Amino acid sequence: MITSIKELLISENYGKKINVKGWVRTKRESKNVAFIALNDGSTINNVQIVVNIDSTNEEKLAKIHTGASLSIDGELIKSEGKGQNIEINAENIEILGIANPDEYPLQPKKHSLEFLRENAHLRFRTNTFSAIFRIRHAMIFAIHSFFNEKGFYNVHTPIITASDAEGAGEMFRVSVLPAKNPPVNEQGNVDFTKDFFGKETNLTVSGQLEAELAALALSKVYTFGPTFRAENSNTTRHLAEFWMIEPEAAFYDINDDMDLAENMLKYCVKYALDNCFDDLQFLSNRLKEEEKGKPQDQQSQELIDKLNFVLNNDFERITYTEAIDILRNSNHNKKKKFQYIIDGWGADLQSEHERYLVEKHFKKPVILIDYPKEIKAFYMKQNEDGKTVRAMDILFPGIGEIVGGSQREENYAKLVARMNEMEIPTSEMSWYLDTRKFGTVPHSGFGLGFERLMLFITGMGNIRDVIPFPRTPKNAEF
Ligand code: 4AD
Ligand code: MG
Repeated sequence: MITSIKELLISENYGKKINVKGWVRTKRESKNVAFIALNDGSTINNVQIVVNIDSTNEEKLAKIHTGASLSIDGELIKSEGKGQNIEINAENIEILGIANPDEYPLQPKKHSLEFLRENAHLRFRTNTFSAIFRIRHAMIFAIHSFFNEKGFYNVHTPIITASDAEGAGEMFRVSVLPAKNPPVNEQGNVDFTKDFFGKETNLTVSGQLEAELAALALSKVYTFGPTFRAENSNTTRHLAEFWMIEPEAAFYDINDDMDLAENMLKYCVKYALDNCFDDLQFLSNRLKEEEKGKPQDQQSQELIDKLNFVLNNDFERITYTEAIDILRNSNHNKKKKFQYIIDGWGADLQSEHERYLVEKHFKKPVILIDYPKEIKAFYMKQNEDGKTVRAMDILFPGIGEIVGGSQREENYAKLVARMNEMEIPTSEMSWYLDTRKFGTVPHSGFGLGFERLMLFITGMGNIRDVIPFPRTPKNAEF
């Protein structure tokens, strides 16, 4: 049995002979003893290894540098040092792998996030990224446990699909046809009937449409899968490959949907505070360091305070129309401080507007409902005013939109009419329309961008730093 450092650090079996394995974070030597801080990724905390220099092979000790992997046999002893309960008196050290400091890119000092992004294959080994990826695991687990507790069934929806769920057309094609001289049809277009699936297929932009099929039988379902969007947005909030959680529930209206989303987000925040406190504390300190130079009014709220604040306050719920009024009448708008000035009803909100509402006006998360139908997807339930749809977006501090969802149009005739208006071919979507033909029910759902949740929980500023291997325009390294 291999004991993790996480387990060792809470153990009080003083005098016990143990074996511990991990990677060297730092080594420092004094006259008779060397101290090695060893980490195995199970926790942000290192275990201190005390090495008696006189009784240790000199050559071996000289080979131990930051990044080397070791297996150590020794005795667990109570530590006199500050901030640690135990340390290990090394009796035998085996070097599993050296890390030559002249070649190893990670030095025992602070590296920039940009540098670490270029070395994403090694960045798991830093305190910052190991903390982030432990939290990422905890959030995946929290989401599954939330839905499981609420009686939602997880369904896997296809990754390769022939439909464009969002109708935005920003998809990656999946094809086995040769890129050079593909077969063409009589009209001179690429002949996808010759392709693997006999039709044009893409990577999915959302599992929603298939989740709806399941919800109209299992009542409450959710998907949690990879999602692909070929939008050329080089921002700190967009990935070409991200993970999305999409619950879909029969008999839910827009209010039930908002309650579900707010509860889910709070559950995740609470789970992080309860289970990832050391890692959050580390990230919080890191942020404080980073913001030290900034003027007071530009510093963001301390990470753990920010999480508690979201946990303990109701989200503000207002309509799109009310939001437009607030924005239009704001001094910010009048002084033309927005890049996109708000002058009328109907405009899509940019992230600067979303963040103004959340960070300056309400100072808490905001849920916007009843958007103009022109700026939303075809499947959303049409309101009686003929102008708006029952959409809801949740806006978060520092992020903007974190959740997008809606009540769905369950009326067959209205849905078909809207699809025709938007020129969405109904003939290829008969499987979807069948849900409205046979036993249709009111139902609702939403999509949570998992990496946007991760940005919020970790306080990181760039979405490339909360997914192990980011996919963005012109970047598919590793
Ligand atoms: O608002 P979106 O496009 O909604 C849908 O896809 C619906 N089918 C969801 C549903 O109702 N089942 O995307 C949902 C969320 C956004 O709020 C955002 O958090 C995230 O997905 N998202 C992205 N995250 C990272 N990179 C991107 N390029 C993203 N695009 C959307
Ligand atoms: Mg959206």
